[in-house]
This record gives sequence, structure tokens and C-alpha cells, in this order.
Amino acid sequence: MNNMEKEKKIHNSFADSVIFLDHPLLKHKISILRDRRTGTNEFRTIVSEIAMLMGYEALRDLPLEQIEVETPVEACLTPMISGKKLAVVPILRAGLGMVEGILSLVPSAKVGHVGLYRDEITHEPHEYYCKLPPNIDERLILVVDPMLATGGSAVDAVRLIRQRGGERIRFLSILAAPEGVARFTSAYPDVPLYIGQLDRCLNENAYICPGLGDAGDRIFGTK
Ligand code: PRP
Ligand code: URA
Repeated sequence: MNNMEKEKKIHNSFADSVIFLDHPLLKHKISILRDRRTGTNEFRTIVSEIAMLMGYEALRDLPLEQIEVETPVEACLTPMISGKKLAVVPILRAGLGMVEGILSLVPSAKVGHVGLYRDEITHEPHEYYCKLPPNIDERLILVVDPMLATGGSAVDAVRLIRQRGGERIRFLSILAAPEGVARFTSAYPDVPLYIGQLDRCLNENAYICPGLGDAGDRIFGTK
């Protein structure tokens, strides 16, 4: 079995709600993020570009309606996105790096924020902030976080959004560990999970291997 076949077999072992993205541009950009020599400025730019590519996939079933437009030649009916009720919800801090990329596709989307940090010892998430746009129950919600490690933060973020009435949720994560995917899909088998790259495992500090390090620190230049 070659490497691609092996990867496909692993992907197929997860729930159908998981969408593993395979565009070569995405793979190339993720490799740049992994490189320890990639500085803050480039890292931030590439996270945003990846978010745009992932958002493009995650929004491919947006409904369309026929609108009449006058071209310089004649009038025609032509499709436009209908019902633009969208929300982007980054998990603070690192998820913030993905917001601009999504907004470049859907500038009218509203932005909510969920603040969670992982305890360094237990690796469990702690909530410190949650503010969502109005009418969250009517919106398609893209929750974004570059890293899905143990899955604790992702599961908690969706729980907080659900408690406030959010229903139509899609989760976008650039890098994921198998442990996090399993935890997320068993908690929310109905929430589509878009993944840029599935990595090997978690280490003893619950960091993704080979991963890219601490996404928040690399985006904001802390540490
Ligand atoms: C990171 C990352 C995720 C979380 C993933 O955030 O951005 O939110 O860890 O880990 P998990 O799947 O094990 O929960 P962190 O808690 O380090 O906060 P930060 O973004 O503020 O640095
Ligand atoms: N959070 C990160 O930023 N990186 C990891 O590898 C795991 C959690």
C-alpha cells in the first residue's frame, strides 16, 4: 500500500461527518506553517489564506437564487447567494487568525467569539468569554480554530454555541490529531468537521505531532 492509500484508509476509519481536504495548495501552505523558521508575519498571512481555501470548501452548498442583472449586452437571470445569514466564530486566540480569510469570501458575515484556554496540566479547556451575533439560531455558523488536539476546546465551543441557540454549525480546523477527531465526532456526529491535515498523534503535552507548535503564539508572536 502506498502512502496515499494508507492515508485514505485512515480517513475512511472516521465518521462520514469528517471532511478531509486534499487540495495541493492547502497542503503546500500547511507545510510552510509547520516550518519552525516561518516568522509571525508569514505565518499569520498563510493561516488567513488557508482559512479562505477551507471556507471555500465549507460553503460550497450555499443556496443560490436567480437575480435579474443588466449586462452591457442584455438583461439576464443570474445566480447570487441567497439568505446571507452567516456567522464566523473563532475560538480565541488562535482562531482569530482565520477570521479575515473567511470574511474575504463572505464580507457580510457577523463575527462571534468564544474564549477558551487549555489548562497546561490537565489540557482541559476553560471558558473565559462568549459573545455571539444576534439571531444565532437563524445563522449558518463556521467555528474556526487552527488546532484540534484533544478536541476539548472544539467540543466546549460547540456546546457553548448550542446552549445559546446555534444549530447549523460547521467546524474548520487546519491541523487535527486523531484523538481530537474521535472526541469531536462522538460528541457531535451531526456537525461537519473540515480538516486541512490529519496528523499522527498527540505527545505527552497534548501537542499535535508533527504539528506546527503553539498556533496562538506563532500567530501573535508571543513566547
Ligand atoms: C489551542 C488551540 C485550540 C486548542 C486545541 O488554544 O488554538 O483552541 O489549543 O487544543 P485541544 O483540542 O486540546 O483543546 P490554547 O488553549 O493554547 O489557547 P490560545 O489560542 O489562546 O493560545
Ligand atoms: N494547541 C496548539 O496550539 N498546538 C498544539 O499542537 C496543540 C494545541
